[in-house]
Amino acid sequence: MVKRMSKSITKESVLAALGKVQEPELHKDLVTLNMIRDLEIQDTTVDFTILLTTPACPLKGSIEKAAREAALTVPGVKTVNIKMDASVPNDGRMRGLLNLPVRNAIAVASGKGGVGKSTVSVNLAVALAQSGARVGLMDADIYGPNIPTMMGVREIPGTKDNKLIPAEAYGVKLMSMGFLVKPGQPLIWRGPMLNSAIRQFLADVEWGELDYLIIDLPPGTGDASLSLAQTLPLSGVVIVTIPQAVSLEDASRGLSMFQTLEVPILGVIENMRGEFFGSGGGEDLARIAKVPFLGAIPMESTVRVGGDTGEPVVISRPESEAARALKSAAEQVAARISVEALSQKNAAPTINVV
Ligand SMILES: Nc1ncnc2c1ncn2[C@@H]1O[C@H](COP(=O)(O)OP(=O)(O)OP(=O)(O)O)[C@@H](O)[C@H]1O
Ligand SMILES: [Mg+2]
Repeated sequence: MVKRMSKSITKESVLAALGKVQEPELHKDLVTLNMIRDLEIQDTTVDFTILLTTPACPLKGSIEKAAREAALTVPGVKTVNIKMDASVPNDGRMRGLLNLPVRNAIAVASGKGGVGKSTVSVNLAVALAQSGARVGLMDADIYGPNIPTMMGVREIPGTKDNKLIPAEAYGVKLMSMGFLVKPGQPLIWRGPMLNSAIRQFLADVEWGELDYLIIDLPPGTGDASLSLAQTLPLSGVVIVTIPQAVSLEDASRGLSMFQTLEVPILGVIENMRGEFFGSGGGEDLARIAKVPFLGAIPMESTVRVGGDTGEPVVISRPESEAARALKSAAEQVAARISVEALSQKNAAPTINVV
């Protein structure tokens, strides 16, 4: 009896059901996107893996639920076991100039200084690493490197085979000019040196395989941003602003610069939302520039304390509103990267052959 029933459940029927489940960000179904792997059927039990494009997928739960419900509509299916896994797509451009095993490089920029770029970079990196991704954090602010303090690290382990070994904290690999100069020592750079410093931080650091390399830029639209965009094909840039008119004007200029350089704008993060600087400006900027709004981070003392003590707020106060907003922004960034990567390939997705 049971045997006869199990015969009626075929892989084709399960795939047909799963083919009706849409990936909400990528606007295609799970089967077309080749996300269903290791499909096995035993009696009335169906097992499969959903291979997401990022472990930080904001819609992980709802995709799993929809897939389970779809599989249960197949006649005879009683139990559905789903394993969630992820493989971050390579945007295809990273192999170019530097031959880095980095799948996606994401710059964090602003027009104005002091709006929270470094804070956002650190928390994005840590949140992505917490989701299970392999993450690096590069402090490209060679004038005022703050990443070591914010990550609570003082030095790098050293060198190996003529390459610098990055420090590691909270599961994130990090590199900063702050590791190479004495604290308090002024940093003066001229154009060519700046270029080579940035190049060195990419090529001469043993990053290993990374899903995401987050790059904290110095303020403004100066040489460092230009030199970076020319040295490394960026998957995209995140623009940080505070909700105040002057900052918004500067952020808008920064945004235009990256657009001119043909770097995809992943979106705008509004930082320090609250009574002091107001709210909504970042959202307006995103709407006017027709780019995604990635979220608003409230002004909270826990964020500053996290930076000062070297324990980012997503670690020290994960339940705070700021930490939750930063985590959600990290998920949005990861989702945008997946969308960008998919549109870059612009080829038909592979047909699933389970
Ligand atoms: N949401 C927030 N709430 C409270 N304090 C914050 C918030 N975001 C950042 N800060 C604090 O504001 C200060 C400036 O932030 P941060 O250094 O990240 O800015 P930045 O844009 O990187 O600055 P710079 O342009 O100098 O590189 C820091 O002391 C930081 O702790
Ligand atoms: Mg900074």
